[in-house]
Amino acid sequence: MMGRDDSVPPETGGTAETERAFYGRRKGKRLRPGQEQRLEGALPHLRVALPERGEFLDPPSLFPVPVDEVWLEIGFGGGEHLAAQAEAHPRTGIIGCEPFVNGVVKLLRAVDERALRSVRVWDEDATALLAALPDASLARVYLLYPDPWPKRRQRKRRFVSDASLTEIARVLRPGGHFRFASDIDDYVGWTLVRAARCPHLRWTAEHADDWRRPFPGWPGTRYEAKALAAGRLPSYLTFERVGAD
Ligand SMILES: C[S@@+](CC[C@H](N)C(=O)[O-])C[C@H]1O[C@@H](n2cnc3c(N)ncnc32)[C@H](O)[C@@H]1O
Repeated sequence: MMGRDDSVPPETGGTAETERAFYGRRKGKRLRPGQEQRLEGALPHLRVALPERGEFLDPPSLFPVPVDEVWLEIGFGGGEHLAAQAEAHPRTGIIGCEPFVNGVVKLLRAVDERALRSVRVWDEDATALLAALPDASLARVYLLYPDPWPKRRQRKRRFVSDASLTEIARVLRPGGHFRFASDIDDYVGWTLVRAARCPHLRWTAEHADDWRRPFPGWPGTRYEAKALAAGRLPSYLTFERVGAD
């Protein structure tokens, strides 16, 4: 099996980039009292508790209902996509990662109002959660409109790196999918280059429509709506986990 320690990529030399990938804001507008209450009341029940270093989570057991498979969404923003997927797939457990507290509160509201039982939240850097997931434990990973960090000197902050793709491939089961969307062409190219040198990911596209068309059953995201309104065209990339080890 792929071990966790062989994920140190040549591009980072095992520096902080491999250990930390959150550079955004943790807080936006001040939370209203009702939102504070929701955070304090609901988050402790939904938050994933990470195991001791060297131990791994058992993803299906995180959910109070039986689940057939588990998906991960990294950087869910306001949780619109995650909540829609959870509603459409009640037998799929979905773990959402988002350190931005105002986004977490929005998801908690949707979970409550729509009585979603198969959602769990990690409100910190997704890198730590990935490291705690066993090999081949997820059927799908979403990374939708990750922060683009367009300036050349900031690009090393991008979530996609050789190390993060190696981790995503490690936690995906063979045949599982990594779905990536972005409206920033440079980030799309950046991701394709790194995925091409990840031996366990295969880009599934055969025709241009395969990356121009949204994923099947696509509910959209808030960030995507903004990108479309500004005239930017998204790309939708699907990578399959290949290889048995
Ligand atoms: C541009 S927003 C897109 C949000 C949402 N996916 C959408 O499409 O509307 C990117 C999100 O990724 C989150 N993010 C950035 N780095 C992250 C990390 N290392 N782990 C988890 N989330 C992260 C940010 O807090 C932010 O909410």
